[in-house]
Amino acid sequence: MDRQKIQIFDTTLRDGEQVPGCKLNTKEKLEVAERLEFLGVDVIEAGFPISSPGDFESVQAISKLVKNATVCALSRAVEKDIITAAEAVKHAVRPRIHTGIGTSESHIKYKLNTTREKIVERAVAAVTLAKKYVEDVEFYAEDAGRTDNEFLAYVCEQAIKAGATVVNIPDTTGYCLPSEYGEKIAYLKFNVRGIENVTISTHCHNDLGMATANSIAGVINGATQIECTINGIGERAGNTALEEVVMVLQQHPYLRKTTGIDTKQLTALSKYVSETMRVPVQPNKAIVGANAFAHSSGIHQDGVIKRRDTYEIINPKDVGVDHSSIILTARSGRAALAYRMKNIGYELTRDELDVVYANFLQVADSKKEVFDEDLHELSDLKYQ
Ligand code: KIV
Ligand code: ZN
Repeated sequence: MDRQKIQIFDTTLRDGEQVPGCKLNTKEKLEVAERLEFLGVDVIEAGFPISSPGDFESVQAISKLVKNATVCALSRAVEKDIITAAEAVKHAVRPRIHTGIGTSESHIKYKLNTTREKIVERAVAAVTLAKKYVEDVEFYAEDAGRTDNEFLAYVCEQAIKAGATVVNIPDTTGYCLPSEYGEKIAYLKFNVRGIENVTISTHCHNDLGMATANSIAGVINGATQIECTINGIGERAGNTALEEVVMVLQQHPYLRKTTGIDTKQLTALSKYVSETMRVPVQPNKAIVGANAFAHSSGIHQDGVIKRRDTYEIINPKDVGVDHSSIILTARSGRAALAYRMKNIGYELTRDELDVVYANFLQVADSKKEVFDEDLHELSDLKYQ
């Protein structure tokens, strides 16, 4: 069955780096960029060059290093931003400038204090200027999630006429419902002249915990690029988690989409980014959290020991985790205890298991988790 390739646009180094305390130096950014390229992302948004000399230097260094992925630099719809972004990516094999402006009533009135007409003028001028430097220009309509569809369609159409090769539809404030965001993409697909010749991109924030669902709804309705970050880091509640959207597309073959991501690298890269950027990953985080393949209740453990897919929809090996784990707590049953004892070399008879299990429950009630060293001690008690 043919699967359509969805472009993965990673913005860990730009939207992700906006997280307080996450700032990286150029050497660290180069290392992240190298790993992202090895992972198989299609686009690396390397930074926002006008924001600081350090960011400019990093984007320039990444542009020189990366050979396969497109290297993208962010700019506002402001002349000096665009010129600086162009200078920063000029050595890239595949350079892209990402430029845009707010399009919602809130942004137009309160942030930019302007009019819809002026927004369209600035959008067109920005794309036209960026196009003088690079062929590949991505236009973002900031706060598209709260922009009315008719005006959004008009702005996108004008940006495409000016030469945009990608139109990015950010749900900047993470407000949309998946159905609403999906309908927005479908509306643009059917109402914007020229959109069939460009890439439609999602860029969804996670303020209501719907970034992944919204990105997937976007793809189902015609978007072919997803903007995302490792571990979902990004402004406020974060951006769309790369590992989540990639695995959703992989685990649902009927969607008939694929990505170029080598999923076996996901866990290691998540750890690397978390450590380098000093942002811990919550234990229950989908795909890459410490508990993503850990089973602790007796009922689940019994099922998963009999057959992994009773409680696991992803083979842990597919994301670079050797095996699922059976965590021993006071909620664990005999099957889990026997399984863990066997793993460390004790084959217990039924009667032995009854004795060890009774002692195990006493230990388990006194601590959060029972470890191998506790099991060794319990095995000594089995005949006492
Ligand atoms: O969330 C957003 O709208 C952005 C844009 C700059 C693309 O990050
Ligand atoms: Zn963003």
